[in-house]
Amino acid sequence: MTQDEMKRAAAAEALKYVEDNSIIGVGTGSTANHFIDLLAESRIPLKGTVASSVKTAERLKSHGIKVMELNQTGPLDLYVDGADESDAQLNLIKGGGGALTREKIVAAASDVFVCIADESKLVEVMGEFPLPVEVIPMAQSYVAREMIKLGGTPDLRHGYTTDNGNIILDVSGLKITNPVELESKINQITGVVTVGLFAARPADVLILGTPGGAKVVK
Ligand code: 5RP
Repeated sequence: MTQDEMKRAAAAEALKYVEDNSIIGVGTGSTANHFIDLLAESRIPLKGTVASSVKTAERLKSHGIKVMELNQTGPLDLYVDGADESDAQLNLIKGGGGALTREKIVAAASDVFVCIADESKLVEVMGEFPLPVEVIPMAQSYVAREMIKLGGTPDLRHGYTTDNGNIILDVSGLKITNPVELESKINQITGVVTVGLFAARPADVLILGTPGGAKVVK
């Protein structure tokens, strides 16, 4: 099985969590794209969806799936999204696709967060994947200096602007042994919009695509 086939297997398993006539949040990235395509094929009746990015909204609409604003929906029944890394407690690094802020908002507003990924994303200690941090543009240098104080090496994601008009610093060299504490520390730095650590609100379920098919970790 290729990595992409493993992503698709995880996405297919996530369909089991989608209830008829529910409103679900949908994430961003190649694994989430598989989920969107399979959701369309499944013809599960939905009240609607909330997208975590402009790209995801466009893909949902291209399949004729209704996209709603989070401010219209109230709490969401389910959120399905990928991740760049997960530890065994289902704390996540997200934001490789740049959608971390909206992803965190949709995750916060959802009753159940199902994370879908290929098996390479499960790691013992997170931090091998550079941690994305969305930053207000004028705070770029200040926040970069604060990241260095925390032991990281920040790198501007060149030529990239988020859906919210901000920049992303990808911070490498962090060994994330206490994700809840690090998330809180980075969130408190002035100029940070969102850190791509999902630990205060981790996933509830992790589905990994493996060569033997989809495996539900928790
Ligand atoms: C986007 C994300 C994605 O979920 C993450 O980057 C994983 O992407 P992929 O499914 O393409 O491996 O957080 O901001």
